[in-house]
Amino acid sequence: MSKFQKLLWGCTIAAAQTEGAYNIEGKGPSIWDEFTRKSYKIKDRSNAKIATDFYHRYKEDIDLAASLGLKIFRFSISWPRIIPHGTGDVNTKGVDFYNNVIDYCLKVGIQPWITTYHWDLPQKLQDKGGWTNREIVNWYTDYVEILKEHFADRVKYWILINEGVVCMGGGYFLGVHAPGKRGIRNFIAATHHLLLAQAEGFRVLKQKKDLQVGTAISCTKIEPYRDTINDRKAAIRIDALMNRLFIEPHLGMGYPHEDLPIISRISKYYQEGDLERLKVDFDFWGIQTYTREVVKGTWYIPYLGAMLVRPKKRNVKTSIMGWETYPQGIPYFLERFAKYDTKKPLWLTECGMALAKDEDDQNRIEYYQKVIIGMKSVLDKGVNLKGILLWTLVDNFEWAEGYIPKFGIVELDKKTLKRTMKKSALWLKEYLLNIEL
Ligand code: BGC
Repeated sequence: MSKFQKLLWGCTIAAAQTEGAYNIEGKGPSIWDEFTRKSYKIKDRSNAKIATDFYHRYKEDIDLAASLGLKIFRFSISWPRIIPHGTGDVNTKGVDFYNNVIDYCLKVGIQPWITTYHWDLPQKLQDKGGWTNREIVNWYTDYVEILKEHFADRVKYWILINEGVVCMGGGYFLGVHAPGKRGIRNFIAATHHLLLAQAEGFRVLKQKKDLQVGTAISCTKIEPYRDTINDRKAAIRIDALMNRLFIEPHLGMGYPHEDLPIISRISKYYQEGDLERLKVDFDFWGIQTYTREVVKGTWYIPYLGAMLVRPKKRNVKTSIMGWETYPQGIPYFLERFAKYDTKKPLWLTECGMALAKDEDDQNRIEYYQKVIIGMKSVLDKGVNLKGILLWTLVDNFEWAEGYIPKFGIVELDKKTLKRTMKKSALWLKEYLLNIEL
């Protein structure tokens, strides 16, 4: 069997985007429940009260994934479903639900993977400052301890925090995601605490030696608009922000303040021993990349001195997300990561493309075909890639974009909640069947 044939294929979903059942069987409110109440923040004025109703239809979705030949089902746990107030009492109905999901995966022969945090913080904790409050390091580690106690007997692969840069950037800097906070101070404090929490969460899970524990990193290739010193320096700053800030402290390299001077302010939040505490030796890294950004230097954007040059301005076609579709980012980041540590296993823990409602699904197939070419090329260069998880199975709640972008390989009828395989799902099934031939 070639290295390519040995890759494992799976899919990723997230609680707040799929589960629905937002206020039943003991679940407490999350920051996304609160954020979507102010519906003007969501493009189509929607919310995730029902979402794809995964809470009631998990069997159907897991069956679908298995029938396509997928071997891994990565889902996230909703913190407020397990601990409605964020700390304190555990909701046994919530624990039962995830036990059912895990057991059903195992029953149909698909490996369950857990993400401990995919952005749905309990609102009660946000009321106390959320990630800007250093206490969250304890709140989070207590939560992870509970997850370990209940699920680590059957779930071997764990991802701690999904895409720190996106949830901190969107939620605490730009205010476009829950909890809608803005400003550099919020961002810097929240980032430091999130990374500390992730490091401590790692240590909690690794008390159980046989677990494989990693993180999922958002990566965006950054390029200068023009070949000028100004634009090149701007690209270095934004690259440090987007592609290094949430990685290098864990590798013991500290924060990238030389290339991103504003981040020096983070030292205000240090306590003795923090830099040492941030170091962790993840068992694997999850890479997630969707697009590329081009930036130019400018003096009037505070802190960063850089602005994005939108794809439209560059005459580049975009997906319904307004993103340049950029499968070339996959081999680029896999190779770049492999340089940090040549032996560490890498996974593509999310990978996908959004289409508009009536767009031809052939575009998604062509996207995945390019992804495959990229994966083959890095395997030939010796990169330790283990597998790929598609984003995502069923069309779902795409955060501030509502239900407009369709990332699923399975279509969701929003009224009836009926699932229908798209052309790309059928293509994938056929592809996976033939892969070993
Ligand atoms: C996130 C998903 C999101 C996807 C597409 C990733 O950043 O983990 O929750 O839906 O990208 O935007």
